[in-house]
Order: sequence, then structure tokens, then C-alpha cells
Amino acid sequence: MTTDSVIHAELPRRESIDGRPAWRLRTRTTDVLLCLGANDALLLPYWGAGGQSASISDYLLHPQGNRPSQRAFLDGQPVAYPVYGDALFKEVCLVIVRPDGSRDTRLSFVEDRAQHIDGHAVLDLVFADELVGVRVTHRFTIIAECDVIIRRATIENQGSRNLMLERALSAALPLPPDVYDAYTLHGQWGREFELNCRPLAAGKFVLESRRGMSSHDAHPWFAVRPRGEHAEHSGSVWFGSLAWSGNWFCSLEVEPNDAVHVTAGIQPFDFGWRLEPGRQFVTPDLVGGYSDDGLGGASRLLHAFEEDAWLPASHKSIPRPVLYNSWEATTFAVRVDQQIDLARRAAKMGVELFVVDDGWFGARDNDFAALGDWTVNAAKFPRGLRELIDEVHALGMQFGIWVEPEMVNPDSDLFRAHPDWAYHVDDREPTYGRNQLVLNFARDDVRAHITEQLRRLLSDHGSIEFLKWDHNRSWTEVGWPEQPELQREVWARHVFGLYDVLATLRQEFPKVLFESCAGGGGRADLGMLRWTDQVWTSDNTDAADRLNIQFGYTRAHSPRVMVNWVTDVPNQQTGRVAPLKFRFHVAMQGVLGVGGDIGEWSEAELDEARELIAQYKDIRQLVQFGRQYWLRPPEPIGACAVQYVSPTGDRTVIFIYQTRGLRGAGVRRVRLRGLEVDRRYRREHDGAQSSGAALMAAGIPADVVDPRNPRPMLDFYSNFQVWNAI
Ligand code: GLA
Repeated sequence: MTTDSVIHAELPRRESIDGRPAWRLRTRTTDVLLCLGANDALLLPYWGAGGQSASISDYLLHPQGNRPSQRAFLDGQPVAYPVYGDALFKEVCLVIVRPDGSRDTRLSFVEDRAQHIDGHAVLDLVFADELVGVRVTHRFTIIAECDVIIRRATIENQGSRNLMLERALSAALPLPPDVYDAYTLHGQWGREFELNCRPLAAGKFVLESRRGMSSHDAHPWFAVRPRGEHAEHSGSVWFGSLAWSGNWFCSLEVEPNDAVHVTAGIQPFDFGWRLEPGRQFVTPDLVGGYSDDGLGGASRLLHAFEEDAWLPASHKSIPRPVLYNSWEATTFAVRVDQQIDLARRAAKMGVELFVVDDGWFGARDNDFAALGDWTVNAAKFPRGLRELIDEVHALGMQFGIWVEPEMVNPDSDLFRAHPDWAYHVDDREPTYGRNQLVLNFARDDVRAHITEQLRRLLSDHGSIEFLKWDHNRSWTEVGWPEQPELQREVWARHVFGLYDVLATLRQEFPKVLFESCAGGGGRADLGMLRWTDQVWTSDNTDAADRLNIQFGYTRAHSPRVMVNWVTDVPNQQTGRVAPLKFRFHVAMQGVLGVGGDIGEWSEAELDEARELIAQYKDIRQLVQFGRQYWLRPPEPIGACAVQYVSPTGDRTVIFIYQTRGLRGAGVRRVRLRGLEVDRRYRREHDGAQSSGAALMAAGIPADVVDPRNPRPMLDFYSNFQVWNAI
């Protein structure tokens, strides 16, 4: 630990503002202030740039209260966790129902506790309502180096009667009155993670999912900026990311006084949780932070947080291998000989991990059957899976396999034996998505059965080093008729159950690398990234579209977790034909994979691929372990550029792409970032030299076209260049 991080891991201690208890949470460059307001309401009156000011009250020059007749109301005030029962009318975080039907809660401050957990300073603020018999603990985990704070609430029944939680969000994040814009990541299957910006205006803007998974439509991430600040590398950004992979909710509410009240957590729609005496409910984590360095700065804080403090510890520092996935090559028609053939070609190209996708198990010849039967198909693997695994290992690669454990086809042995294991509503026809139903992961027997099947898969056939965990449909008829009193708990219990299964498997198979997938990027959230090491961001592998998807995804997540494949042309999703080099250069932005039918690639293509994979391995450390700067965002016409810099600033790679060019457009320059001002740098491919100062001030030309060429190739141009400090 550096001296700096020791300072920042300092435990917050109780101070006082106007005689009321207050706490200051310090990160490397930010401060968050908490204090108690009237009636012990927990307020968060400041969250932003840090200062060295010694006195906590310097930050709060007379916060404005409401007009005299409304002074008792908390609307427009920066409440950090409003509950139903508080004197306010905005979105609340907590609704508790008592057996007599009364629904109000009024929390009083009990105590504060500060401690170190895993090297991070943690503050717990404990509140209680004796009438209700509930205790609520707000936890603030300060990830000082990454300028983020993790929030969660624990709600504990300390009384003698059952309580019903109708809503239990993770936190509220207040911002002071002003005009703001909201940035979100919206999309759909095949066009995930589109960055949207819209003005926040009076009323509420709700982001959410009710699909069972965090979804392709909206990603549980947001950023808020003062209106008009759009710069990538400068300006204020408040951001949040919710670690929850099921139904979620985030409301950005502009109050009548123009204050902004953000709330986020488990989706309250169709949520309910019975809290028996002595039991507690812990909300998912909401990670929030502030940056003075624009959306780019905010993204780098989230990347660093994910890489250093969040991803599964066993693999977080291991470079992700170059993988080959045979899905697009063979779909369901998997056969051992053809997989071995693909594996040999992949190994020659320099691939390090060979993955067999869907189609290897049960009677799986199409998507109508076999989900739920995780045993090897004997017709496709007459000598067992081990034959392929041994061959892959002999070729010097790791072996990986695909599963979709939360799903079942009606045409499967599992469903025939246990039709009640799928969500269902008695006397109603189920709705099928991709011909499949969702298994009830809230049930202990379902989880135990699936865990045992996966345990056998991972142990019975030799060493499997990688598991791709898929989830291919939204949930409908989410019923559990045998347990009517748990009906509204099912959505959340499923997700807790999923995390449990993943935790068990990780513990039993610590060497296995896990990838999360959900029909592309439908569940690529922080919740999954607590238990999986990387994610598949989209089934759309078209390189041009992928630029947007990857730009959007890396607003919220690290390139170290983002898997990108090079596939065939014409592209399966768009019909577009991009050159192999362009496809590779785009896929090199994160974890490189190949997903094309390499059995059909020409010798020249295989040679080019081998060369490009070798080049990727040379810069992999920069891409997966460096800092990422988008120098120009993807545009329909013209160049875009993204840079990765080593942690010490001594080496950098810049990728430049142009999907479509405009004849006659002059060369744009891109100013590099993150270099050492005083050092000189040399470009690897041509020996050109410049200083860090000049590269960051004047930049380099994003020269996508040779202007001397009378017939220039304007479309699908790409290159990358590496600069090393001398
Ligand atoms: C989903 C995934 C794909 C592939 C198929 C297999 O669509 O996103 O990558 O695994 O399932 O059925």
C-alpha cells in the first residue's frame, strides 16, 4: 500500500455539522458528506470533487431548507435513503408492511461503526424503528483509489412478527438543484450498449428491467452531467452501476426545486419479501462515483474498480486467453472429428482456448430439445468428450464448453421427470422463448440438481478450464404455484440462487474461467462480474456495429472482461463484408476471440490471422491491463480512435478505424493521453519519434487514407500503432 492509499483507507470518524452527527468519506479525489437531518433523516448533502479542507462544515455553507410552512417536509432535500413514512413525496427506497397492514417506517439513528474490510475503509450507519421492530444498516465501502463508494442496505427484523418488504432499494444518490443531462446505455439484442444522452427535466426518468435478467434493453449503469458538459476528458460526471443481474430499477427524478434524486436497486414491481423475526435482507451493491475528467475519466474509475476490487480474485490478474468458439462454424451440428479439425487449425493460428458451444449435449440437434440434459451426446462424441479435451490439451490449448443451466426445453429428460421445476402458472399455457422455459432457480432441489450436473461435467471428462454460462430468454409466467407465499420473492430468489451456484462452482473448481452470456449482452452487469470473469457483449459480431457496442460497453466496464470475436463475412447478422484485418483490429479492443468457420478460411486468411493474433499477444498487456482512452468516438463517417496506456505511461497502443470515409475529407488529429510529458517516445513500426508533451498536445494524424493514392480505399480502414518510451 502506498502512503496515499493508507491516508485514503483512513476510517471515517463521526464529526458534527451544526451540532448534528456528520461523516466525511474521502476517496483519492472526491469527498462524500453524510449528516443527520431533522428527525434523524440521513442526508447526503455533498458528493463531488474533494478538497483538502480540514473542516467538514466548510463544504456546507447553509444548506437551504424548504419554505417555512413546509419545513418539516424533506422534499428537495438530499435524502440518502428515503423510506415510506418519511415526510416526503418522492421515490422511496424502502416500504415495510406490518401484520396489521400499517406501512410507515420512521428510522432513528442508533450508532455508527467504522472498520477495515479487505483493506477498504467501511462505515456502517445503523438506524432502527422500534415500533416496526426493524433495524436498517447502511454500509458505505470506500474504494478510495478508484474514487468509488459501494452502498448497500441491510434490513433486519428485530421484532417478533413477520414483516413484508414491498420495496428494498440499495440507495438514493442526491444531487443539488441544477440542470443536468443523463447518460444511459440502452439497446436491444444485436445492438446493445448504445450510449444515449437526454436532458433531465421535471418528472422521473426510469431505467429498468422486468425481464428476469438485467437485459439488452437497458444496462444498470447511469451517468449524470451538468447540462452542456459533453467533453470526453473533462467536466463533472456522477455515475452509478448496480450489481444486480435480475429485474432492476433506477429512477432519476427532478424535484420541484431542480434537485435530482436518483434511486436504484431491485425492481419493486412484483417484488415482495417476507422477513421473519431474526432474518435479514441484504440489498445488492450500488457502486457510485464522481469524476472531474468527463465520461472517459468516469469509465476509467469503473474499469480500475472492476479490475482491482471487484472481479473474482482467482482470475482478475490473469491475462485472458485468445479463444476460439465453434458456434458460428458448426451451430448444433457438433461432431468430434470436425471439432478436432477446427481445434488443429485454431492451435496453428495461435489460439489458446478452444470452446465448444451449444450442441454437444443430450439430444441437442436444434433449439427445440435437450436444455436441462447436461450429459455428453454419445452419437456426436462416441468415445466421450475426453477424446476432444485430450486433443485440445495436446495441441497446447485450454478447453472450454457452453452451458445454459437456468433453462429447460419441454423436450428434455429433465422436464419429463420434473415438469414442475420450470416456472409455470397452473392452467395457463406457457409462453416459449427460443422454445425453452426457465428453471425455477429459487428451488433448492433445482439448484442442487443443476449444480451436480455441472460438477460432473467439470470433473468427469478431464480438465475443463472454461465455462460459458448462457441465458437465452426473458422470463414469463414466473409462477411457483406450490409456494404461493413466496410468489413475489421468486424473481430475486432466482438471482440469489444463481449467484450461489456460481459461488459453489468457483469454489470447487478454482481454475475454471467463467464467461457470462445472455443471448449476447443481456446479462453483462456488475452482478454477474462478481462471479464470472468475462462477458459476451453481443451476438452481433459485425465489426462496424461492434465499434459502437464496444464503445458503449467500455463506458461502464473494463476491456479486460469484454470478449470480441472475429467472424466470417458476409456477417451473419448484418450481411456486411469487412476485411479480415478490420475485423481483427476491432476485436482486439478487449479479449480477442475467433468465431468464424476457420475450416473454410483460405491459407492466406489463416496466415493473416496467425500474424494478427501474434500482434495482439504483443499488445494484450496494454489492452487488458492498461488504461483506456477513447480519443474519438465511433462515427458513421470518418475516423475514430481508442488508446490504451500502460499503468506507468511508458508504452501505448492507438487503434484507428474508419468504417466509412468521405472523399476529400482532411486528416483529423488525435491528441494522445496518459503519457509522460518529459519522456520521448518511439513508434514501433517506423521508428518515428516525438515527446510525450507533443503527442499529448499536437497529437498524431489519424491518417486513415493515403492522400497520394488516386484511388483511395475509403471504407473499412484500420491500423494500430505502438509507441514506447525511450
Ligand atoms: C446465444 C449466445 C451465442 C451462442 C448461442 C448458442 O445466442 O449468445 O453466443 O452461444 O446462444 O445457442
